[in-house]
Amino acid sequence: MCYAIPGKIKEIRGKTILVDYFGEEKKALNELSSLSVGDYVYAQGGYVINKVSAREAEEVLSVWKETFFEYQERDLRLSRVSLERKGIDRKIAFILDKAVQGVSLDRGEIVYLLNCDQPETLELCFKTANFVRQKYLKNACCVHGILEISNYCKQDCAYCGISTHHESLSRYRMSPEEIVNTACEAIDEYRFKALVLQSGEDGAYSVDELAGMIREIKEKSPSFILVSFGEVGISGLKKLFDAGARGLLMRFETSNPELYEKFHPGRTLATRLEHIRKAYEMGYLIITGALIGLPGATVEDHAGDILLTRDLHAEMYSFGPFLPHPNTPLANTKPVSETDVLKMLAAARFAEPREARVLVTTAFETLSPDARKKGLLAGASSVMLNVTPVQYREKYAIYPNRVNQHASIQSQIDETIELLASLGRAPTDLGARMGYEDRDR
Ligand code: 5AD
Repeated sequence: MCYAIPGKIKEIRGKTILVDYFGEEKKALNELSSLSVGDYVYAQGGYVINKVSAREAEEVLSVWKETFFEYQERDLRLSRVSLERKGIDRKIAFILDKAVQGVSLDRGEIVYLLNCDQPETLELCFKTANFVRQKYLKNACCVHGILEISNYCKQDCAYCGISTHHESLSRYRMSPEEIVNTACEAIDEYRFKALVLQSGEDGAYSVDELAGMIREIKEKSPSFILVSFGEVGISGLKKLFDAGARGLLMRFETSNPELYEKFHPGRTLATRLEHIRKAYEMGYLIITGALIGLPGATVEDHAGDILLTRDLHAEMYSFGPFLPHPNTPLANTKPVSETDVLKMLAAARFAEPREARVLVTTAFETLSPDARKKGLLAGASSVMLNVTPVQYREKYAIYPNRVNQHASIQSQIDETIELLASLGRAPTDLGARMGYEDRDR
């Protein structure tokens, strides 16, 4: 099973190509040297990843062809929602109608939605978020892998279990060879097309070394590589981009500058945002977002988080619950509820109804056993699987008891495929937004 479907090139317009997927056309940027109309390619995140032989493509497509339309139909059926608004708060009804029409919500509307606590109304909000997701993005569900290469971190973020606060944590750092091999295995054997490389702000690897690893991975195993090494500086980001990284996963954590400084002593939100903005200008696809429920964060702050994510041109919204870690200064915080998280996912969907990919985070899956399904039925359209070697996973303890600490990659894949099939979601990344060159057109 692949996490992308090969498409056939229909047209080439300079660096942009048009790819056909069972009659649906998508654009992608081509960075490969030679491509012709009629070739089959994998595209991911709006970029062509590699060319595949017609034989290989047709083999995959023949498997998909049968299920593709069946899945779409199942999704369509499951995402139906009654537009009957009887007995529903009038302002919520207005908000939902607006979202269905593909119009972004404003701050006041997001706040209103996040403040709603009437179970039936919320149920309707979640269903409508799912309807809107289906209407504008169809049934594609991004499945990315994440490889946590080191849990060393020199930062003292107050919420984070791998920060300097956690003195007793046993630290690990994968060797460059192990990183490249593990990444290539995820891409070649487990067929991930998009992979996030993440670590604490380690500092032991220079950006040049990281760039070298990315180059090697991409040479050996064509893929869409996203980086998540924290604040490596603007020139660091450029080096990683030049090495072939095309995505940046960096949350701003909170859009409230005072809270930001409180939880990140000595650092500023402005620097964080500069990284994200500059990365976007360089051509990175951006995954960003914030923690839900940091102590002191208000509903207004969370509405601001969603709007800031939109403002940062996020391809994907990453919002997960803050889960208190016992070895951090915020150990005694009460975690947020499942409903609070679902509200944020639905609000993110409504903030950018036509475009947003909304991630069901591992933190949410840790908070609630049914999170993935519930999230996917409340506007989300993306999941991440952990491909870190099992012996390191427990040590990457950003919060306690993370899900899938011991689950093999294959079992995570099987479980995901089964869930996506039951929901009629195709594990693909077909419709990603365009890359940098197309943004100005
Ligand atoms: N609970 C949930 N998420 C956390 N992160 C760090 N600590 C926690 C926690 N206690 C998240 C941060 C960071 C990402 C890698 O992990 O948002 O960006």
